Amino acid sequence: MVCLGNICRSPLAEGILAEKCKDLPVLVDSAGTAAYHVGNAPDIRSQQVARIHNINIENQKARQLKHEDLKCFDLIFVMDKQNYKNAIQLAKSESEKEKIQLILNSSNPGSNLEVPDPYYGGDDGFQYVFELLDKACEVIKNQLEKDFNE
Ligand code: 4NP
Repeated sequence: MVCLGNICRSPLAEGILAEKCKDLPVLVDSAGTAAYHVGNAPDIRSQQVARIHNINIENQKARQLKHEDLKCFDLIFVMDKQNYKNAIQLAKSESEKEKIQLILNSSNPGSNLEVPDPYYGGDDGFQYVFELLDKACEVIKNQLEKDFNE
């Protein structure tokens, strides 16, 4: 799960998908394309909206996305088009590029919709982001379940 700062959107996405996939053999992680907040816990507003939905993300620590991630992970979900561009720039092969996708294309195929950055807004922005990510992660979990059963 990738966003810009790895303190608002992608920590929520990590927490939501990890919770949905807790009985599946998958490793869910998150990172930011920028280094501004490396080592920081998620934004308190992301922690709060997660906690309301019984998900604990407070022990996460922000880190920066690196090329190694594109090698190690099978799927790279980005929140917006700028994240997409930045992640693509780290890729060294077509197969690495193909792993990178806008997360809302899971719930809204072909739409190229973005998860808005809630950092400068109010608490309702975080609730909205949670809802978008919860829908997308439900589709991702169902697809992973299918893949594991094939
Ligand atoms: P995120 O939100 O990419 O969802 O973690 C942001 C957090 C911090 C900043 C921008 C976006 N910032 O400019 O510091």
